[in-house]
Amino acid sequence: MASRVLHLLASAAPPAVDLVDVVWRARADGWNVCVGLTPTAAEWLDDQLPALEGQTGHPVRTKPRGFGGGEVWPRADVTILAPATLNTVNTAAAGLTPNFVTGYLAEAIAKRWPLVVMPCVNSAYATHPAFERGIDVLRGAGVRVLLGEGGYEPNPPGQGDRSKYPWHLVLDAARSLAG
Ligand SMILES: Cc1cc2nc3c(=O)[nH]c(=O)nc-3n(C[C@H](O)[C@H](O)[C@H](O)COP(=O)(O)O)c2cc1C
Repeated sequence: MASRVLHLLASAAPPAVDLVDVVWRARADGWNVCVGLTPTAAEWLDDQLPALEGQTGHPVRTKPRGFGGGEVWPRADVTILAPATLNTVNTAAAGLTPNFVTGYLAEAIAKRWPLVVMPCVNSAYATHPAFERGIDVLRGAGVRVLLGEGGYEPNPPGQGDRSKYPWHLVLDAARSLAG
């Protein structure tokens, strides 16, 4: 029985559609996995939600907890945000909470929970000043951000290949953060 708990959060960039495979890999690595999605990622994965819930044994979370609602997931040892879009990186860095994923990230960043973020943006988006500032904000808050050497390397616009998204790096980082 898996014992360490991984919260795997995803936003709407193409590698998100491979989450079923990523969950298998994480579970094979000994993680008890819980999946949370931004509203757009949840739309993209609509037909995969039953499979993700069957695999993980936990509800896929896409909406913030209601007033008075209890926790539905076991507490995380480590949290991953991958793929992290321009939008979700900037929103999280600004401390805004328009959806479940960004609300979770606000709490994780503020409480210094172990958090690994691997963006998925093209090389043009990567130079957006808000994104560059956002990455600095996250790193400054102790978040492990896998961008550039040893992490996700942005491709020129239109040349991204989701099969090359380096999921192994984010899973390795989660394992090392768990100790
Ligand atoms: C086919 C497709 C591919 C996209 N790829 C990316 C991407 O790689 N990185 C990114 O930041 N946004 C990408 N977007 C745009 C995001 O999906 C969009 O900004 C969305 O609002 C992000 O919402 P979220 O951050 O709440 O998931 C893509 C959109 C589409 C339709």
